[in-house]
Amino acid sequence: MARNLVIGNWKLNGSLAANQELLSGLIAENQSSQVPPSSVEFVVCPPAIYIPQAQTLLNGTSISWGAQDISNESRGAFTGEIATSMLLEFGCRYVLAGHSERRQRFAESSALVASKALAALNSGLIPVVCVGETLHDRESGATFNVISEQLEPLLAQLNPHALKGIVIAYEPLWAIGTGRNADGNTVQEAHAYIRNKLAQVDLASADNVSILYGGSVKAANASEYAAQSDVDGVLVGGASLVITEFLSIGKAFKS
Ligand code: PGA
Repeated sequence: MARNLVIGNWKLNGSLAANQELLSGLIAENQSSQVPPSSVEFVVCPPAIYIPQAQTLLNGTSISWGAQDISNESRGAFTGEIATSMLLEFGCRYVLAGHSERRQRFAESSALVASKALAALNSGLIPVVCVGETLHDRESGATFNVISEQLEPLLAQLNPHALKGIVIAYEPLWAIGTGRNADGNTVQEAHAYIRNKLAQVDLASADNVSILYGGSVKAANASEYAAQSDVDGVLVGGASLVITEFLSIGKAFKS
């Protein structure tokens, strides 16, 4: 069984004061919850400059933290980049790789995303590899081909034993930040396809890989996703900035 993950992707949002309020609220509520924390893991991914703040506030709690992106390079003349070793120094456990905003707005190819995910894995971070189709892809029947092409460069290079160290997030672009969420059946179908692709790398580990859904997830629709057999959590953008929303989403995944 894959573990349930509820990851907040803060994107380009936050301030020292706003983060303090959000994280303090999460910690307080999470600690007072009656459900054992091990049944769902909360993760926050703030902008990189706020990772030390997240570490200070979250150290010793059950909430993990991570980054929204990393370099595939380990050191050198790469202005503006951040290496996996640097994230590890600040206690990060997760890093997103290939979010659609990186693929589309920063022209990240699936080959680059694969090398970022491998750099994360090799350093001991858990990469959350994001895939998903555009509305045009879906309407032209290309959804599975697109997901396949996005995963191939990674799966081709992945040591089968390393498969259990990755997380996949299925995020159809037409559902991100649009308020238009995918229905449970559509998500289950895509997740089952992804799990089947992972099983081709290593049958024994595929069931243990967490496959998350992302795209306009909120408290009101989280349980629809939690009810799907191949949905092992969610990657949440906008709603992760609202304490009550993020916690209710988490509760939907507490078994
Ligand atoms: P959203 O973003 O929840 O605001 O749609 C999800 C994401 O981009 O990860």
